[in-house]
Amino acid sequence: MSLATTTTRSAWRRIVDTPLINALAAPHGIGRYLEVINPMWSLDKSRITARVTAITAETDDAISIELSPNGEWTHFVPGQFVQVYIEIDGRQHSRSYSISNSAYSRKPRITVKAHHDGFVSKHIHSHLKVGDRISLSPALGDFILPEHVPSALLFIAAGSGITPMMAMLETLLEHQHSGAITLLYYSRNSASCIFRQRLEALAQKHSNFSLFMVYSTSEATQVLSDHFDQSHLLKAISSENGLSGHTGAITLPLTYVCGPESLIDKVSAEYELLGHSDKLRSERFKAPSSQVRGEAQGSISFRQSQHAVDNDGRTLLDQAEDAGLNPQSGCRMGICHTCTCLKTSGTVRNMSTGEVSHGEEHIRLCVTQALGDVILSL
Ligand code: FES
Repeated sequence: MSLATTTTRSAWRRIVDTPLINALAAPHGIGRYLEVINPMWSLDKSRITARVTAITAETDDAISIELSPNGEWTHFVPGQFVQVYIEIDGRQHSRSYSISNSAYSRKPRITVKAHHDGFVSKHIHSHLKVGDRISLSPALGDFILPEHVPSALLFIAAGSGITPMMAMLETLLEHQHSGAITLLYYSRNSASCIFRQRLEALAQKHSNFSLFMVYSTSEATQVLSDHFDQSHLLKAISSENGLSGHTGAITLPLTYVCGPESLIDKVSAEYELLGHSDKLRSERFKAPSSQVRGEAQGSISFRQSQHAVDNDGRTLLDQAEDAGLNPQSGCRMGICHTCTCLKTSGTVRNMSTGEVSHGEEHIRLCVTQALGDVILSL
């Protein structure tokens, strides 16, 4: 969005989005009427209207979608994601997708892989067209580069876990970052490797960028094969790549990992073994399982709503919504903190970490389950 357009929108918002006009437009507010005239005029900052301006096939089952959001969109930091809201057969669905292009791009791009059991991703693949409109949250998440980027960085990705890394890589390289960057990227084979040609072109153009494509099905050209193990790490940090690594005392660079649980678990275990867990940043795009260990017990009381339900062991967010409450939520995976709420009493389990905690505290409803009676300030 250009500065002129942003300025025009701010001026326009100052004129129409006033308490007086909103009172006259009650109960919906002026934004709702503007949205009916033209959805792109929406003033909603939490669900920003965006038009699809291009769709590019990356592989047989992955597409990149270029978006032109309205003026409520401000910016994103490479590595962040957006919550995408999409209506399918009259029902609203939402999913998180990382932004996959450089922060210098005019339009954000998301890359969506159609998972065989992914209802929303398959719908996006088969139905979304250029010109369609979708809604987005603002950019969310703290899987981002530090303010002062260190002289060596290692990215480890598998499958669609490449998407936040691509945003970081493109931004750094476009900004002429001179430090050593290495990417270890795991795919089934070269055909299923998202951004393969773009990554190869970047590696050719930038001598400080080393690229290791790793395929689980063997191909003639590959240097590494199979799944992540310590030998891959050693290869990636070898001094020829400019990263500091020795087989004796291994020094690991700041590392980002994103992909399936199994990859993140393996890399985390390796870094722990080497005493470098502090160097690892990871992002898991997976909603916690609502499996209850043992019998669900107790009740959940919503203090402000003066309502209570029997605890059925699912996330507190699911149970609050089913009780007719409308708590704020975004990613539903414990990343964005939108659903943070004060618990005034009770014992809960964080379903991502397994950690159990008691008493008054702020909790994320989407990744928390009650272990007995719990009171929430909802
Ligand atoms: S909805 Fe994002 S942390 Fe709960």
